[in-house]
Amino acid sequence: MTDLLRRYSDTLTALSREGLLRRLPDTDTAADLLDFSGNDYLGLAHRPELVEAAAEAGRRFGAGATGSRLLSGNTPLHEAFEARIARDKGAEAALVFSSGYQANAAAIAALLDKGALGAEPLVFADRLNHASMHLGCTLAGARQLRYRHLDLAHLQALLEQHADDNRPKAILSETVFGMDGDLADVAQLQALSLRSGALLYLDEAHATGVFGPHGYGLAETIELAPSTVVMGTLSKALGVSGGYVACSGLVRDYLINRAGGFIFSTAPSPLVLGAALCAWEMLPGLGPERAALLERAERLRVALRGLGLDTGASTTQIVPVLLGDPLRTVAARDELAARGIRVSAVRPPTVPQGTSRLRLGLSAAHTDQDMTRLVEALRAL
Ligand SMILES: Cc1ncc(COP(=O)(O)O)c(C=O)c1O
Repeated sequence: MTDLLRRYSDTLTALSREGLLRRLPDTDTAADLLDFSGNDYLGLAHRPELVEAAAEAGRRFGAGATGSRLLSGNTPLHEAFEARIARDKGAEAALVFSSGYQANAAAIAALLDKGALGAEPLVFADRLNHASMHLGCTLAGARQLRYRHLDLAHLQALLEQHADDNRPKAILSETVFGMDGDLADVAQLQALSLRSGALLYLDEAHATGVFGPHGYGLAETIELAPSTVVMGTLSKALGVSGGYVACSGLVRDYLINRAGGFIFSTAPSPLVLGAALCAWEMLPGLGPERAALLERAERLRVALRGLGLDTGASTTQIVPVLLGDPLRTVAARDELAARGIRVSAVRPPTVPQGTSRLRLGLSAAHTDQDMTRLVEALRAL
């Protein structure tokens, strides 16, 4: 083995020793398990309407986009979907990407670009933001000033501390936090951003489809300022894949010219966008499913607390069971799998040290019986 390969092997051995080794789930057994590990919050991923919409879009526009949007990949479907997202999010414009990860990495890197801004920006970021948001900052070479999770008093104090600093400022936050299932106060975040002259970038990956009067996300409840950029995914409640950014027309034009992950990547497939647009159009009619989902999540939290389990500050369809130790978390996940239930064991670096957890992702497709089975399996741990 070359020295380089030995180092990879040593890394895997060390991860395994610490309970941090990741393995792909076994596909033979996965289909038989009751699944609480996904993000298909509205149960749309297997809906025949979406599959048919994908096929129809494929027939009209092709299976693949054949090139980047700036070359051969721009279709009326891409443009129509973006117009729809913009309208429904209350933004002037929108831009779709092949994944949410790509959207965050590309858009944040471009928005924080020192060259365009004339100086390194001051970036105020929630401590628990997603890895793809960190990547965007890293690509831009922008250092982050991390505020305590959801602590807007801390954010305000940091903003005041830097009030006399003339460098451009940006605030980055998820709206529903994917590993904790708690909510950011979007109105307050936008108020703070406007008061301090900062750009506000909100990630609605886990809110899109589940929150907002019509299911378009938490930012649906505020009037978006031109300096607010709202990102979301088509991969979670919408049941497909892809990401989007809803923003001003100016920011869209800027991203088309400066976001590497948009410029140098093939446009999202019409198959994917056809299915995602079908799901998007269903959102306003899924109010009862959203209400039932959130009610079920609340009943689950009450039951789990009754078992002495710690569900953190979750108030959404994402319910963590905090166990702390990674080895214990992996053992609990495996024990649940042996009982026919699949959950995620989330460990560092995805979450901070000492906060390893089982992550329960609820779906409108779960039944009351499924919920009872889950609680009974957790009781037996
Ligand atoms: C908060 C957040 N943002 C972005 C992403 C990336 O989205 P996608 O899975 O569509 O690439 C995720 C996915 O895990 C996420 O949780």
